[in-house]
Amino acid sequence: MHVLIINGSPRIKKFSNTDKILGKFTKGLCENGTTFEQYEVSDKEQWDKMREAYYNNDNVLIALPLYVECIPGLLLEFLETLKPKNDGTKIAFILQSGFAEGIQLRCGEAYLEILARKLGCEYMGTLVKGDNFSIRFFEGEQQDRITEPYTEMGREYSKQGNFRSEDCKKFTGPEVFPAYVRFIVGLMQKTVAKKMFAKVAQNWGCTKAIDYKPYS
Ligand SMILES: Cc1cc2nc3c(=O)[nH]c(=O)nc-3n(C[C@H](O)[C@H](O)[C@H](O)COP(=O)(O)O)c2cc1C
Repeated sequence: MHVLIINGSPRIKKFSNTDKILGKFTKGLCENGTTFEQYEVSDKEQWDKMREAYYNNDNVLIALPLYVECIPGLLLEFLETLKPKNDGTKIAFILQSGFAEGIQLRCGEAYLEILARKLGCEYMGTLVKGDNFSIRFFEGEQQDRITEPYTEMGREYSKQGNFRSEDCKKFTGPEVFPAYVRFIVGLMQKTVAKKMFAKVAQNWGCTKAIDYKPYS
């Protein structure tokens, strides 16, 4: 199998968490002879080649971060340049995000299933996982600890050609945190995190409170 992989993050490759995830995923993917080619949506100079590759490949995998609960605008801009294929092309997605609870990625996942149909491709599932904020802040072993689990998912995709197995579903982790964790996180948001964000805003020259609601 040969797979066209598109990194849908607007962040350039060097700073993209999705790219680091793909690094591990493709390690597992290629163990049994599967090959791939990868393009970056963040590099508009690749768009023509990426579009050509999209029309010439019958296995497509789009890996993307969740941006404001949905898919990045730049990826959408690229997708809008594509015509529906309707030729049996299979498409799968890796949807990853910063916050850890699976539930907050489900709306994006549902959208990707619709997107597959709009592109005239057969939907092969979405690998869903959050808790990836920190990948870009780490290097070496610390980064590997977060990204390494994707290697097994690469093996799984290369074997099954989809993300429908129980192992892929379990990979998401907790759908919702237990009540006590939500309580602690909520408390942190209202206290420590609020102060921290206010300081960041102040440093950026913001003169109003961060919860200022001019239209309410
Ligand atoms: C503008 C922006 C919006 C984001 N929105 C969300 C969000 O709604 N939910 C979430 O869990 N993470 C969100 N994140 C975090 C990213 O999904 C996460 O850091 C991801 O790993 C980034 O991947 P990338 O570096 O390849 O772009 C957002 C990040 C940015 C920069």
